Amino acid sequence: MNEVKKRSTFSSKLGFVLAAAGSAVGLGNLWRFPYLAAKYGGGIFLLTYVLLAVTFGFALMVAEIALGRKTGLSVVGAYKKLNKKWAFLGYISAAVPIIILPYYSVIGGWVTKYIGTYVMGEGTAAAGPDYFNNFISGTWEPIIWFAIFVLATALVVLFGVEKGIERVSKFMMPVLVILSIGIAIYVITRPGALAGLKYYFVPDFSKLSSKTFLAAIGQLFYSLSLAMGIMITYGSYMKKDANIENSVFQIELFDSGFALIAGLMIVPGVAVFSGVENLDASGPGLMFQVLPQVFDNMAGGHIIGGLFFILVLFAALTSSISLMETVVSIFQDKCKLSRRTIVILVTIGTLLIGLLSSLGFGVLSFIQPLGEGTSLLDFFDFISNSVIMPIVALLTCIFVGYVIKTKTISDEVKLSSKFHFEKMFIVITKYIAPIGLVLILVSSVLNTLGVITL
Ligand code: PFF
Repeated sequence: MNEVKKRSTFSSKLGFVLAAAGSAVGLGNLWRFPYLAAKYGGGIFLLTYVLLAVTFGFALMVAEIALGRKTGLSVVGAYKKLNKKWAFLGYISAAVPIIILPYYSVIGGWVTKYIGTYVMGEGTAAAGPDYFNNFISGTWEPIIWFAIFVLATALVVLFGVEKGIERVSKFMMPVLVILSIGIAIYVITRPGALAGLKYYFVPDFSKLSSKTFLAAIGQLFYSLSLAMGIMITYGSYMKKDANIENSVFQIELFDSGFALIAGLMIVPGVAVFSGVENLDASGPGLMFQVLPQVFDNMAGGHIIGGLFFILVLFAALTSSISLMETVVSIFQDKCKLSRRTIVILVTIGTLLIGLLSSLGFGVLSFIQPLGEGTSLLDFFDFISNSVIMPIVALLTCIFVGYVIKTKTISDEVKLSSKFHFEKMFIVITKYIAPIGLVLILVSSVLNTLGVITL
């Protein structure tokens, strides 16, 4: 974002919520949340997630939006303006979208491939046990779909037609939500779904570990587009009379509600088609393995499957566009190159880095950075969500709580409305979140090093 230009603002209060929700709702809800919920014990993950959302998620989102609105700047500039020494936090935050965009686009490529699958009438083949693995372990096919997705994102960013996409997605999003609810109802009324529902909703405390917390907090930040500077940028476009606290509630409710629905399509789906005992072993392919089985069993399922993946593609595109915009604006603020050149360079960089994640399931599958059975995509995902984002969140809390002080944020929130949960905000930002984040980070490092098993 060019910081010297006067910022335009969202024309309506709802406009802000919709735009922020558009960035928030994406593959994080549909692809990432369900497989993490399945992998980390179902109900206990859900409970941890909800508790973290109403505490950590709330505080961090209020802080980021207020920081953006107060300074009128995007991430690096915002921290720098408030305290020169803290500009580094802006740079660390900026690294997150740079890491996420390439592998996000690989998954976007998978979604695009599945549209092709249904258009070609191969819905039954897609429901077969090896279809997905055969696809991702190939060399050229996943790369081509990934490249198509990146180029589609780049074209929108290059020609500045986000407005058009936003208009279409305003219509597509509600359709996606309604269709997902319909699919979830279909799945949970199948025989055998009850065991999956129980797994999804009833917490089993014996499955609680530091890994559950780390996975849930990483997912929370990812899904809400937090701890990466994006909400600061969105906040910089928000009008001074818009209610920050209410907006945060609305975005969180929408985003988490949709993740919950996505989980309801997929987690009980595993129980119906392959048995609950397989849930623990879930990985990034879960959505692509389970949903084709669901569609193959439904009357008219192949058409619904095609429609579903088209809608998912839109949700993924609105998110990848906002990711690429962020990356482009970071470089635009720093280099003297034209926007066009920067978009082209970012596109090439995304293609090159994403190649690693794409090939990580095929010819590069011998590289298993996080241990047996993990992929390069898992590695990039881990570095951004489980390492850098919790560190950014921790530093943001310290910055807000002890450097600029929580009053700076409170004053900004109160410009437009009462701050009902101010006390909770202060206690979380100053004490609970920093201590919690340090505990989560330290135990996860010790766990990874094999020093403890928590
Ligand atoms: N929150 C998005 C999702 O859940 O899919 C991911 C994301 C989109 C992160 C856009 C960051 C961003 F700028």
